[in-house]
Amino acid sequence: MERIINIEWTGSAEGGHLRLLDQTQLPTDTVYLDCKTVQDVWDAIKRLSVRGAPAIGIAAAYGCVLGVQGASQGVSQALNQAADHLATSRPTAVNLFWALDRMKKVEPCTPQWLLEEAKAIHAEDEAMCRTMGEHALSLMRQTLGQDAAGLPMPGVLTHCNAGALATGGIGTATAGMYLGHQQGLKFTVYADETRPLLQGSRLTAYELGQAGLDVVLICDGMAAQVMREGKVGMVITGADRIAANGDAANKIGTYNLAVLAKHHGVPFYVAAPSSTFDLSLASGDLIPIEERAAEEITQGFGKRTAPEPVKTYSPAFDVTPAELIRAIVTEKGVIQPVTQQRIGEVLGL
Ligand code: MRU
Repeated sequence: MERIINIEWTGSAEGGHLRLLDQTQLPTDTVYLDCKTVQDVWDAIKRLSVRGAPAIGIAAAYGCVLGVQGASQGVSQALNQAADHLATSRPTAVNLFWALDRMKKVEPCTPQWLLEEAKAIHAEDEAMCRTMGEHALSLMRQTLGQDAAGLPMPGVLTHCNAGALATGGIGTATAGMYLGHQQGLKFTVYADETRPLLQGSRLTAYELGQAGLDVVLICDGMAAQVMREGKVGMVITGADRIAANGDAANKIGTYNLAVLAKHHGVPFYVAAPSSTFDLSLASGDLIPIEERAAEEITQGFGKRTAPEPVKTYSPAFDVTPAELIRAIVTEKGVIQPVTQQRIGEVLGL
């Protein structure tokens, strides 16, 4: 499959820069941003030009390289400054902090070695996506009951964008879909549009459609009816941070889907690399939830759609309790049942 390039370092460690596909412009415009400073990367993360937990981590790692350019002395101080600043861009996706911690540990601390580490984080993410995809595809076959003969399968519902645009590879939640499609499986993906910033509509429906998958776009509030009509055989989403007990934070609206899935007897899966686990947090109650600007609800994409004035509350993520998650797909294997003990066993802790 031809991958859309979303994150790319161009040039040398000392003189190069980061190119990011500006995801705020999709699906209509393909525009690349040239990030030449740490602040450029911070801004790109904050405004969601680059978004999705793994992609944020990868972009921040390259941002650290920008932070040490020209700092012939005091490279590690410049690195710490850059990493500390980037850490303030968004609070929920733990991959950001995971990548920054990794960058801070690079020895010797030179631009060249830092670039090598950022590239390694990027390449490892690509490989993790592929392995997750293989595990997820087995789950899809088991859950949806299609054999190699190619019988039609019910749909797979996903939320937000946990796709290629959100990672260094073929996505987390979408990885099994891409591999299944390559292998000739026939299935429909129901993409929730994902209010308020429409990552499902602008990004997931776009990237899966470009790759030739059968995608049906629905508004978030339609999921219950679509499940009731028997159109959904499984739900799979990504995650931004998974606590030690398996509670998983993901885009706002994910928890709704998990509750709906339980009601309709539909399995609810999460796909996430090991870099998305935060075992320092005992439960999802401790995961910091980003709050976004009121305008994203009241005048998203430029048109006012709410009275003025109006009070708003806009948590960008919610936490799905482990008990609602049938399994978590990681690159190290499938965590099922979702318990602290099984998480430890699969992640090898
Ligand atoms: O606000 P976003 O677009 O960064 O939110 C992204 C999500 O919630 C994704 O589902 C999650 O980061 C997993 S990406 C593989």
